Amino acid sequence: MGLVLGIESSCDETAAALVDSDRRIVAQRIASQDEAHRPYGGVVPEIAARAHSQRLAPLIAATLADAGLTLADVDAVAATAGPGLIGGVMVGLVTAKALAMAADKPLIAINHLEGHALSPRLADESLGFPYLLLLVSGGHCQVLMVEGVGAYRRLATTIDDALGEAFDKTAKILGLGFPGGPAVERIAATGDPRKVALPRPLFGSVEPHFSFAGLKSAVLRARDAGSHEPADIAAAFQQAAIDCVIDRTRRALGRAEKPTALVVAGGVAANKAVRGALEALAGEFGLPFVAPPLPLCTDNAAMIAWAGQERLAMPGFTPAPLDVAARPRWPLDPDAAPVRGAGVKA
Ligand code: KG4
Ligand code: ZN
Repeated sequence: MGLVLGIESSCDETAAALVDSDRRIVAQRIASQDEAHRPYGGVVPEIAARAHSQRLAPLIAATLADAGLTLADVDAVAATAGPGLIGGVMVGLVTAKALAMAADKPLIAINHLEGHALSPRLADESLGFPYLLLLVSGGHCQVLMVEGVGAYRRLATTIDDALGEAFDKTAKILGLGFPGGPAVERIAATGDPRKVALPRPLFGSVEPHFSFAGLKSAVLRARDAGSHEPADIAAAFQQAAIDCVIDRTRRALGRAEKPTALVVAGGVAANKAVRGALEALAGEFGLPFVAPPLPLCTDNAAMIAWAGQERLAMPGFTPAPLDVAARPRWPLDPDAAPVRGAGVKA
């Protein structure tokens, strides 16, 4: 079956994968840069770009070797072309262009957010359009109606921080290290959320948008008060964040027209407490709940290869031109109205 080589390099994961049109991940490799960024407590764009440029080519070669294949066996090359840290995106996109040109294969320029948005369909064949998607990652926090491939209608977005960003900042404030999300989840499981009172920004507000900046500041104040255990603060933070996510997503669901399922994707979808709360919410609306397996939640290349397959299967598919640009910003729904209070985030 048709085989797509996917390349991902938009943040701190260097990844390559081969995915066929039958949803089989034939091979995949991910090189994490956690060690390189840990001393800085966050991703340093310059370091990320240098690491991608060193690691990506051998990683692609190893992925092909794992499958016992060569570039000649690949039917198309798909790479993240944005949004993300521009240095890393350029490394992946230029590599994909060179491979596509050398092997005379079609190039597919993928929106990283589309990779996340369609990733649940890679794991779950039965998931059809339209579905209501909560996309929660380090850079994004949005609710979208996914009406089809390339057809995304944004119902809500964050007016300040992304959800993953709030987890990462909380981890930093509590000295839990980097990457922060999994560390907060781990320690939160041992704490008591009732011991620390934290705010729930925008809870109950009419528009279904999100806000996490005030929650992060409250975490900082709770730490500085000096009388709380870090595990209790982490547990209270996670509970407050989940309460906000559920309230806001419930509001968005109330506006969605007949979705087939409630779906979550992106790095924070790896959080078991978040998944559990969303599953209960889906039950409230009588909807199936779909979440990709954990390795497909955080950044990976299988989701990019799969988005390439979805694009290839579209009627009238045309490959990207070799001069297609890398885009630091690339909203999934270009028609979404700007939200008061929001910055320039897509
Ligand atoms: O999708 P992703 O790998 O990269 C972006 O496109 O941003 O998401 C990374 C984000 C980080 O903020 C990370 O802390 C968060 O996802 N994350 C988690 C968990 N695993 C990753 N947040 C909460 N709980 C987790 N288990
Ligand atoms: Zn991502």
